[in-house]
Amino acid sequence: MMETDIRELEKVQNAVLKAKNIVKRFGHVQALGGVDFELKRGEVVALVGDNGAGKSTLIKCFSGVYQADEGEIEIDGVPVKINSPMESRYYGVETVFQDLSLAPDVSVAANVFLGREIERHGILGKIGFLDYPEMQKRADKFIREVGVNLPSVEIPAESLSGGQRQAVAIARARAWASKVLLLDEPTASLGVRQTEIVLDIIKASKDRGMGIVVISHDLPSVLKIADRVVVLRLGKVAGNFQAESVTYADVVSAMLGKEFKA
Ligand SMILES: Nc1ncnc2c1ncn2[C@@H]1O[C@H](COP(=O)(O)OP(=O)(O)O)[C@@H](O)[C@H]1O
Ligand SMILES: [Mg+2]
Repeated sequence: MMETDIRELEKVQNAVLKAKNIVKRFGHVQALGGVDFELKRGEVVALVGDNGAGKSTLIKCFSGVYQADEGEIEIDGVPVKINSPMESRYYGVETVFQDLSLAPDVSVAANVFLGREIERHGILGKIGFLDYPEMQKRADKFIREVGVNLPSVEIPAESLSGGQRQAVAIARARAWASKVLLLDEPTASLGVRQTEIVLDIIKASKDRGMGIVVISHDLPSVLKIADRVVVLRLGKVAGNFQAESVTYADVVSAMLGKEFKA
């Protein structure tokens, strides 16, 4: 099929994630004031905005950490109510949270398989037990795939450096996501080389048809891989740009709510 035909197909495709009029309040702080958001299969959306703009809150509404006070969410065209992170995973949505959410006192392998442990059945097929060797083998593979070398996947997550933790959280999300990947500052504590690897992972996931939302303060990096840039300001969408035609000044102006000249 010609490339132009594929673009035509993408236009008519349903959004993999769609949100309408999302409102979220914390007491009398309105973190989100009616956000519309759309993400297509194979699309990378950079979600940007100043501190406190509501980026993490929006992602947490999609990942079931928070329930919106108002609004609707659809996954693959089906209206859903996402009541917990476990439910979001059931819908194929995986999240790397800003705080990474690893269990500190259990091993890297156990973190990768948290909530989806592999069971091996006993001789009579009755007594199931956890298949640690298999989980370690696969966790090791997942982590290698994100370009990190850990001494072992049996060490507890709390003994890892910030960058290594970030890599484990990304490896886990990437391994399990089937539809949507939500990344909240995934490169915040990474060096240059590791950041490049994460950008490559995002590109590869996009090529597999995943819809990806990436929150980042690193505009130049994120503009390299994004198809679209959505700007939040004070809990509202203040800009929605195609990445190929947007300038740094456009994005910063929308973030600040006033003209910015580079
Ligand atoms: N759990 C919470 N309780 C109370 N206020 C919150 C909570 N989470 C976020 N907020 C507030 O909601 C607003 C948006 O926060 P957040 O989504 O974390 O912004 P961002 O990720 O863009 O920096 C901020 O004013 C923040 O203080
Ligand atoms: Mg945040």
